[in-house]
Amino acid sequence: MDKTLKISKIKEGTVIDHIAAGKALKVLAILGVDESNSISIGIRVMSDKLAFKDVIKIENKFLEKIELDKIALIANEATISIIKNYEIIEKFNLDMPQTFKGIVKCGNQNCITNAGEPVKSEFKTVKTNPLTIKCIYCKKEMSDEEIINNV
Ligand code: CTP
Ligand code: ZN
Repeated sequence: MDKTLKISKIKEGTVIDHIAAGKALKVLAILGVDESNSISIGIRVMSDKLAFKDVIKIENKFLEKIELDKIALIANEATISIIKNYEIIEKFNLDMPQTFKGIVKCGNQNCITNAGEPVKSEFKTVKTNPLTIKCIYCKKEMSDEEIINNV
């Protein structure tokens, strides 16, 4: 008997798969989904016999570049599948963007981007795994945990 819990396939929308176990809620929080989306979430579901993963399936939602960049910040390991009429029409891994514009709030309160001026935050990727990014204005570096709390 198959004892594995299966999350239903979706008809149209986006599957964010292979998210490191436990991170799905953070991914959902930054995506800003609301009551109008049908969403299935698997947290710590069995990926293969050795590992757990999280998975998110959002019906009728197709992610924009800025949303993919946000996911890359939190769950760079995720795989994205675009589903149309139950078929996977596109499947890809996330690229780690070299710059992040207007996505992360600079952790330095005195930064020009926090001064109420019309200056959007902008970071350059310094290092991946663990991720470190650097503000192009005040040079503050932000790592993993700090990034997650400021997306
Ligand atoms: N999926 C879905 N609805 C569909 C088609 C696929 O929800 N109509 C989901 C699958 O459940 C899976 C993901 O999209 O989570 C990718 O599908 P597929 O490539 O078929 O799965 P696997 O072969 O298991 O992929 P991987 O090797 O990436 O784990
Ligand atoms: Zn700054």
